[in-house]
Amino acid sequence: MSLLDIRNLTVSYRMDGVDVRAVDQVDLQVGAGEVVGLAGESGCGKSTLALAVTQLLPRWTNVAADRLMFDGIDLLTLDERSRRSLRWARLSIVFQGAMNAFDPVMTIGAQIAEAIHTHEPSESRRAIRDRVAELLAQVGISPRRAGDYPHQFSGGMKQRASIAMALACHPDLVIADEPTTALDVMTQAQILDLIRRLADELGLAMLIISHDLTVLSELCDRTAVMYAGRVVESGPAAAMFTGGAAHPYTRRLLDCYPQPGAGRASITGIPGGPPDLAHPPEGCRFHARCAVMTPECASIQPALRDVPGSRGHIAACHLIGGDPR
Ligand SMILES: Nc1ncnc2c1ncn2[C@@H]1O[C@H](COP(=O)(O)OP(=O)(O)O)[C@@H](O)[C@H]1O
Ligand SMILES: [Mg+2]
Repeated sequence: MSLLDIRNLTVSYRMDGVDVRAVDQVDLQVGAGEVVGLAGESGCGKSTLALAVTQLLPRWTNVAADRLMFDGIDLLTLDERSRRSLRWARLSIVFQGAMNAFDPVMTIGAQIAEAIHTHEPSESRRAIRDRVAELLAQVGISPRRAGDYPHQFSGGMKQRASIAMALACHPDLVIADEPTTALDVMTQAQILDLIRRLADELGLAMLIISHDLTVLSELCDRTAVMYAGRVVESGPAAAMFTGGAAHPYTRRLLDCYPQPGAGRASITGIPGGPPDLAHPPEGCRFHARCAVMTPECASIQPALRDVPGSRGHIAACHLIGGDPR
């Protein structure tokens, strides 16, 4: 059984009487200790999916799913109190932009201590202080810096501290939403190393969300790619990032980033833009931007199928010959 098991999840925001389907019939599983990536252009529904899992969506949303389970616990029917205790203790999230969310007038150490105290009120002050030091060391910050204020930390250090915060109560699953997006390239590489090391050392399961496929290729065991609210491809990262991507969208997305060893090949963007999620097109949602579309693509929505010759790899494209799932 997967630690996180999402089946047929649909999330829509009600805006001015119109439903914006930010997540549409999505299946996603994360096994214990597994690092899974979730990729796709800005606005395709990645953060919405993370917020649905952590039950932090605004009230004007509709959430429906055949299954939204965490370690056998049904997240859809959980009461608010159990949700809150689950959220930190077992399942935590590093929000998009979390590094800018520290309270500027409280020291970093005090903010991590407060998170621990809230969820483990019986812990002694001394035990909490030791735990804060241990957490900071784990993310590569000297425990002596616990008394610093957020403005005394660089961007990379603040991001490390927000990861320490997410680890504060020994979660089994950490969701990291765009963990490196606001950082320079060198710092980004260091944070990626840190995340991978923590996942391995602590046996953590992780769902790493990024619009940048190169970030995911370095980190993940498995990656799912979303387009306009739907998962269009999912498979082992090793296959998908070494020429085995099956969906035309994934291939175009990969072309948007420099590939190691590809020489001076030019980087191409994807012409056009994603569809309006309030009025998604018929057929394959990518068809209007797809270089290999057929008439069928504009009218019939392709189902996810097994990609022939690649285990655990599925894609939703009429041009893929595999059996429907
Ligand atoms: N709080 C919200 N209220 C209304 N619409 C939203 C809200 N958050 C996101 N959306 C819409 O949902 C879609 C998906 O957004 P999001 O999940 O943030 O995508 P991503 O994280 O992939 O960039 C977008 O069309 C966005 O405008
Ligand atoms: Mg987002």
